[in-house]
Amino acid sequence: MSVDLAVELGPLRLRNPIMTASGCFASGREMARFFPLSTLGAMVTKSVTLEPREGLPTPRMAETPAGMLNAIGLQNPGVDVWLERDLPWLAARDVPVIASIAARTVDEYGLLAKRLRDVPGLAALEVNISCPNVEDRGIVFSCRTGPTGEAIAAVTSTVDLPVFAKLTPDVTDIAIIAAAAVDAGATGVSLINTLLGMAIDVEARRPRLAAGTGGLSGPAIRPVAVRAVHQVHSALGPVPIIGLGGVRTASDVLEMVMAGASAVAIGTATFADPLAIPRAVEDLETWLADHDEPSIAGLRGAVSDGGR
Ligand SMILES: Cc1cc2nc3c(=O)[nH]c(=O)nc-3n(C[C@H](O)[C@H](O)[C@H](O)COP(=O)(O)O)c2cc1C
Repeated sequence: MSVDLAVELGPLRLRNPIMTASGCFASGREMARFFPLSTLGAMVTKSVTLEPREGLPTPRMAETPAGMLNAIGLQNPGVDVWLERDLPWLAARDVPVIASIAARTVDEYGLLAKRLRDVPGLAALEVNISCPNVEDRGIVFSCRTGPTGEAIAAVTSTVDLPVFAKLTPDVTDIAIIAAAAVDAGATGVSLINTLLGMAIDVEARRPRLAAGTGGLSGPAIRPVAVRAVHQVHSALGPVPIIGLGGVRTASDVLEMVMAGASAVAIGTATFADPLAIPRAVEDLETWLADHDEPSIAGLRGAVSDGGR
């Protein structure tokens, strides 16, 4: 039986639902040594900022029992170098490119969007609003509806591209934040960014990350991500959702899709297994055929409450 892996994210049509999670692959060159990027449904790039950033002091990564803590601090070459050096290489790879952007102020989001407005080779923008707003006591944009709406509107009022708002799960009701992003013109939302965590070296009596705290990713956060996707899908119905957080296998992808994701990104899993993505694409196809399911899109939100 032939199956259809294609999915739609608003106006974007992807050949399959599996994409990269921002930050785990820079701009794709390292991954292209393992498999052709055209295997991907889309490539989400590392967040770029207006100015270059060196990131936070080392150590910036720590393993934990079921996941990883990182405090990279958005290290990137800045949007100008990225546009000159990285995007042209990626745009020649037969894969839709979703550029992730991050900023410290609402104005900066607008300026970044302006820099990317008429650039050829971009399929969409993912707006990382899970970082602190320096003008607002360092509170993460996507922790509150007002700053979420302002940051997203600064982008959607500037570009014609589809825009996805990347949200933090560290909030009371993520569906309310997602609704604010959509009201400000977002095409959809990416759920979830890392959760704030901490690990301590008990011999040194010091945090294991130089920054003290960092973002938790990997299998430990998958149930949180599935819950967030399900909550937002239940509240907002057709709004496209990119689901991510601890996904590694085709079964994990199906879990996200059944919770309500249209597409799914994989990040941390690839550090241990660089071929996790092509394997998940292949296994997903096999699973659908084995279960007489004609399409992955048909399984969106297919979780049943089992009469409970
Ligand atoms: C090393 C590392 C760097 C990351 N950098 C970014 C980033 O620049 N922008 C962003 O939106 N998310 C970033 N993330 C978060 C991931 O995109 C993703 O939301 C999170 O890791 C959960 O997915 P995973 O468990 O599959 O890794 C980063 C994650 C890791 C592990």
